[in-house]
Parts: sequence; C-alpha cells; structure tokens
Amino acid sequence: MTDQNSQNNAAAPGHEHLVVALDGPAGAGKSTVAKRVAHELGVRFLDTGAMYRAVTLRALELGIDPGDHLGLGTLAAGLALDFNEEGQVLVEGVCLEPAIRAQAVTSLVSEVSAHGSVRDAVVARQQELGHTWPGLVAEGRDTTTVVFKDAPFKFYMDASSRERAKRRSKQEGREKEIESIQSDIERRDHYDSSRAHSPLQVAQDAHVIDTDQKSLEEVVHLVLSIIRGDSRDQA
Ligand code: DC
Repeated sequence: MTDQNSQNNAAAPGHEHLVVALDGPAGAGKSTVAKRVAHELGVRFLDTGAMYRAVTLRALELGIDPGDHLGLGTLAAGLALDFNEEGQVLVEGVCLEPAIRAQAVTSLVSEVSAHGSVRDAVVARQQELGHTWPGLVAEGRDTTTVVFKDAPFKFYMDASSRERAKRRSKQEGREKEIESIQSDIERRDHYDSSRAHSPLQVAQDAHVIDTDQKSLEEVVHLVLSIIRGDSRDQA
C-alpha cells in the first residue's frame, strides 16, 4: 500500500484512538503481522515482548538472578522504557536492538517475565504508552487479556509448533536445527501458558487465526479486513 494510504486512518471509522491487540505463542509471526498492520493503518507498533527482553538483558548485565522476584521488580520499575519511531525498544533513550534478541536473553526471558513484580511495572508502562500514542497495534502474550483488554479489535494468531520452528529456522538460517528450535518453542509455550501471572490465553472475544496454511500476506489482509469491517474477506 502507498504511504498516502498508510497515513489514512479512515480504515476504522469511529475509532479515534484505534487500539488493536494481537497475541499468540512464540514464533507465530505476530510481530511481522503487527508491524505491517500498524503501517497500513498509519498507527504505531508496540512490541511488548521487547520490553521484557530489555528487562532481561539489563538483569543479565547487572547479574540479577532470574529467580529474584524483588530485585527484578525494582529493576523493571526503574527502567525508562520507550520506543523509537521504528518501533525499537529504548532504555534510557538507548536502542537495545539487536542485543535483546541474543540467545542468552531468549533463554531467560520467559522466566523473568513470569514474575508478577516485573509484569506490574511493564504493563503499567505499556498502558501509559497506549494512552499517549494516538493509535497502536500491540503485540504479545497478554495484550488482549490484560494490557488492552478493552481493545475494540483483538486477534489471537496460532500455528503448530512444527510450523513455527520451520519458519524460525528459515528466518535465522538454521535449517539444520529445526528439532532444537521446536523444543525451545515448546518449552517457552509451556512456560508462557502455565505461569500464575497473566498466562497466555485466548481472549473470548478475539478473532483466532490459524496461520499454518496461510501466507503472511493472507494474514495481514484478513486482519485488516476485520478492522475495516469488510465482511467479504472475513474467514
Ligand atoms: O514475543 P517475544 O518472543 O519477543 O517475547 C519474549 C518473551 O516475553 C516471551 O517468551 C514471553 C514474554 N512476554 C510476555 O510475557 N508478555 C508479553 N505481552 C510479551 C512477551
């Protein structure tokens, strides 16, 4: 779509402060879809996982134990988390990409983000950003159930763990490591879905999209159709 159209927020009439929330398990393609949808609607993209990754990275650097509930809560509450125009996370104004995507962070982020003390601080900041920005597409594990539970548009993107591992191995050029990528994804699924605080769940009023047999373009198209109220395209 052209830039002109991207700035045109007539896509969702009646929603002056457009909030779209999109959840799902690791590797379902949420962030690619959320970025594209945000671009098409001319609103901002909120990568909530990046904020938990930023807290985890800082905890690693400071040597805070991933089981230290109080230490991690204090750290999360004191970090100045923000985003630049490209949707990249900033801490004290410094962009932490790509360090937050390192394997060491990926391995620990589920454990760190499971603490209620961490979630309280990070969710409060997410809601603050959501109120400040004129419109947004938020992506994560609890954006439809907790952070923006009153969002008018909610989506849950799913795919089998095999398919998600295949996509990720291709993306990262690690085709030979599908098995270990799949078990890492399943480990994170289990952790994210079974934790006591805000586990990954399908919101009752979310549109569930199974992406196993769908291309990225098809998923983006479907999400935009639902937001724009185009009933012909709704699956
Ligand atoms: O989407 P991601 O892989 O960047 O997320 C990293 C981790 O952060 C994920 O394993 C679970 C956690 N997370 C969360 O608990 N709540 C969110 N809203 C987003 C991510």
